[in-house]
Amino acid sequence: MRTKIVAGNWKMNKTLQETETLAAELAAKLPDTEAEVIVAPTFVNLTAAVRSLENSTIQVSAQNMHFAENGAFTGEISADMLLDINVEVVILGHSERRSHFGETDDFLAKKVSAALAKNMRIIFCFGEELEDRKSGNHFNIVESQLKNALFNLDASAFKSIVLAYEPVWAIGTGETASPEQAQEMHAFIRETMAAKYDNTTANNISILYGGSVKPANAREIFSKPDVDGGLIGGAALNSDDFIAIVRAI
Ligand code: 13P
Repeated sequence: MRTKIVAGNWKMNKTLQETETLAAELAAKLPDTEAEVIVAPTFVNLTAAVRSLENSTIQVSAQNMHFAENGAFTGEISADMLLDINVEVVILGHSERRSHFGETDDFLAKKVSAALAKNMRIIFCFGEELEDRKSGNHFNIVESQLKNALFNLDASAFKSIVLAYEPVWAIGTGETASPEQAQEMHAFIRETMAAKYDNTTANNISILYGGSVKPANAREIFSKPDVDGGLIGGAALNSDDFIAIVRAI
């Protein structure tokens, strides 16, 4: 059966000291839960987060990585560098990477392959823009994002992949997809996976929802059968809010 996951994407927030404080608070307050809990601090604070969380069950993820092994890629970080500091999870395809840094599906496909080749676990993000939703094109967009970046993989690769549906119009806007909209898209994603691969692969993959999840709306969103947890931005920056969201699952 698929696992429930609550992951916090801290984006470009928190200094070193703030990272240590938040990590320590989370470790101290984490309730007993069967859900996996993951946090993704910025690159420079990954080592500190790993250290602060080493006696907890909270895992540490990177927010991005490059596909090359090493070399002349100024400002980039490789899989080996992450593994070397005990970071085995990476977020790929976040809409902010796509929109602000021009990351395309083809580019992401290379990153996915590189991470899998190193046995890393991937939280793969995708989702439609507001115009796509308004024009009724959202299912097509999501299907093409999955197809272009992931559907060259064998079914077995999906054991190491978590999907995160993040409608761009709901990220950081305070506007959440309704639980029904999230369920509708998650069910579509699972059907798309089943059509390309098989029912077992589709049923075993965790699909997270991301976009303005807060303590006040988490329970209702997580109650939907195809929503296996959340990828949390703003509300992950405060330990009480994040823990409340973990409790909601
Ligand atoms: P918010 O929760 O701030 O909307 O961000 C969601 C997100 O982008 C997580 O990756």
